[in-house]
This record gives sequence, structure tokens and C-alpha cells, in this order.
Amino acid sequence: MTPPATSSKVIKNPRAKHGFRGRTCSITSVGSYVPEKILTNADLEKTVDTSDEWITSRTGIRQRRLAAPGEFTSHMGAKAALRAMKKGGITPEQLDLIIVATITPDMPFPATACLVQQQLGAYRAAAFDIEAACSGFIYALEIGQQFIMSHTYDTILVIGAEKLSSIVDWTDRNTCVLFGDGAGAAILQSRANAHGLLTACMGADGNKAGLLDMPGGGCRCPATAESVAARQHFLRMEGKETFKNAVNAMITAAQESLRRCELDISRIQCIIPHQANQRIIEAVGERLGAKPEQVFVNLDKYGNTSAASVAIALDEAVQTGRIQRGDLVLLLVFGAGLTWGAAVIEW
Ligand SMILES: CC(C)(COP(=O)(O)OP(=O)(O)OC[C@H]1O[C@@H](n2cnc3c(N)ncnc32)[C@H](O)[C@@H]1OP(=O)(O)O)[C@@H](O)C(=O)NCCC(=O)NCCS
Repeated sequence: MTPPATSSKVIKNPRAKHGFRGRTCSITSVGSYVPEKILTNADLEKTVDTSDEWITSRTGIRQRRLAAPGEFTSHMGAKAALRAMKKGGITPEQLDLIIVATITPDMPFPATACLVQQQLGAYRAAAFDIEAACSGFIYALEIGQQFIMSHTYDTILVIGAEKLSSIVDWTDRNTCVLFGDGAGAAILQSRANAHGLLTACMGADGNKAGLLDMPGGGCRCPATAESVAARQHFLRMEGKETFKNAVNAMITAAQESLRRCELDISRIQCIIPHQANQRIIEAVGERLGAKPEQVFVNLDKYGNTSAASVAIALDEAVQTGRIQRGDLVLLLVFGAGLTWGAAVIEW
């Protein structure tokens, strides 16, 4: 069997080097949704001992969105999905698979992806959740890509969605200023004459699981009156250590993914890092040798929305014309686990 014809373009798909005979996988449309309610730094000044000046200078965050009481991760995910589907002209019947990346599922089970499937009426689709914290969207993209490349499925919906406001301890100023709610979605398909997703790297280090976690709610610590009183059902974080690990892991992932594609950072038109902290983003950009204008930032508006973060940013970058067809895009993520990842996309 003759290998598939390689493109005359300089950009190489690293999989082709290994005799790859599958299809390429592209993100053919994106969408996002954030809830209406805005919580500003000034609002937080009224509830915890903090200041707009501290939050802005230490994190870059100015406001975040909060889901309404009856609005859940599945609702936000479905709304983001509908926007992506509308833009791509995708009907619910076309969807073969729905993957939802989240740490704030509507319930421990069933999967939030099944609830999204029901809301979309996408009854042909298989549906499951993945949990890789803030790295979830890239993990989900990479999983989805395998099914497209192998010809298993033709149309996959990948969602990153979070209602972090439901697990944030609103009395803890160390964490409550950082997070927000929202969702982003992408449709994966094979597009003729395009490289699409060139590579995605994923990594994890369970030795550092304790840096960022929520101890309660699983089988180690089921909900009891004591666990609730001990505030075990809220997110906990060692900020400084998390910061250092985030910078190192995102740099390693970026370098590995660029190396695989034989690309220099200067070739990337748009870098979309996980939107956790402006100082993390700047440190990563500087150490990668990127120019500030290559880096897309929207955390001032939404804070850290975990698995939704790069998905929302990607949609905004596309909608505002910051990313054009043919551009090279680098997604970078980091999160609890610890987990990290990077993806290079020829848009
Ligand atoms: C959380 C983070 C912003 C804290 O910034 P920092 O520069 O490391 O600040 P420190 O932890 O050294 O805290 C400095 C002081 O500010 C205080 N502080 C913390 N949060 C505060 C707030 N919201 N308002 C005012 N003061 C605050 C601390 O109590 C500390 O006071 P102390 O010196 O009297 O003990 C930063 O560590 C960070 O962003 N870490 C990574 C978080 C992250 O990205 N998590 C998600 C990963 S997916």
C-alpha cells in the first residue's frame, strides 16, 4: 500500500513520519458560553479581606462569571455546543461522540456528557466525561482526535465546561478570587487538504496530587456532617508551588509539541495558554521566547474556568479574527493532578 501523499507545505504532521495512514483531524467550528452574572473584584472586596489592587496585580483577573443557581455544567456545555454546531452547520443527528471535560460535573454520575446529549437531542452519540482538571480540554481533543484519525467516528463534540463557583470556598481569599464559570466547545472532523491538529502532548505527575485538590465527595471522604463542617468539599490549593509547577510544565509541553512538529515558537501566530494567572502566562511566554503579541489573554474577564479556559479563549480568538484559517495555534494547559498538555493546530 502506498503511503498517503504528503503536503507540499513546509509544516509537517509528525504522525506522517511514522507511516501514519489515518485521517487528519481538524477543529471545524468552535463556540462558547459564559453566564450572565458578573462578579467583580470590587464585589469580592465586600465579602473577603482582599482588594481589587491585590487581585489585579497578582493575577490579572478583574472579574469572573457566575452561573445562576439552577444553571449547571451540562447547561453551559450544551449552550456552548449549540453555538459551535450552528457555526459549523452540524445537526444533533450528525454527532457520533460527545466528550465533556470537567471537574464540576452536574452529579458524580451519570456523566455530564449524557446530560448534554439529552439536551442536544444527539441520540446517536456515545457520551462520556473525562477528568484532567484544567488540562481537560486538550486531553479531550487528543482522545477525540484518535477516533477521527482511525475512521471510527466522523463528527465529535468536545466540551470543556465548569461551574467552579459550586466548589470554591467563598470564605477563602487565597482561592475564591481566582475562579469562574463557563464553557467552550469544539467540533472535530476530518477536513480535506488540511493538517488540523498536528500534535498534542499530555503529561501527569500524581506525586503532586496534593497541590490542588478537593478532598471530600469521593470514596476516601464521602459527605458526612463532619466532612462538611471541616470544609472538605471545597477546592484547596498551594498557590506558590502550583505556580512554579504550572510554568515549568507548560514550557516543557510547549517545547515537546513544537519539537515534534519541527516548528520554532516564532512560527506560531497565536498562543493560547490556560488562563489562570497573568504572571504565569508572562513567565511561560518569556521563557519560550514568544512576543507578548503572540499570546492571547482573556482571563481579566473570566478568571480561571479550568477545563473551559482554553476552549473559551479559542472561541474568542477565532470570533475576533485573532486566528485566521491557516494560522498555527499553540494551546497550553496545566491543572490539578498534576496534569499538563499542549496542542499545535494548523487552523
Ligand atoms: C494564588 C496566587 C495568586 C498567590 O499569589 P502569590 O504571589 O503566590 O501570593 P502569596 O501566596 O505569596 O501570598 C502573599 C500574601 O497575599 C495574601 N493573599 C492571598 N490571597 C489574597 C487575596 N485574595 N487578597 C489579598 N491578599 C491575599 C496571602 O495571605 C499572603 O499574605 P501573608 O504574606 O501575610 O501570608 C499565586 O500563587 C498563583 O496564581 N498560583 C497559581 C494558582 C493557579 O494557577 N491555580 C490553578 C492552576 S490550574
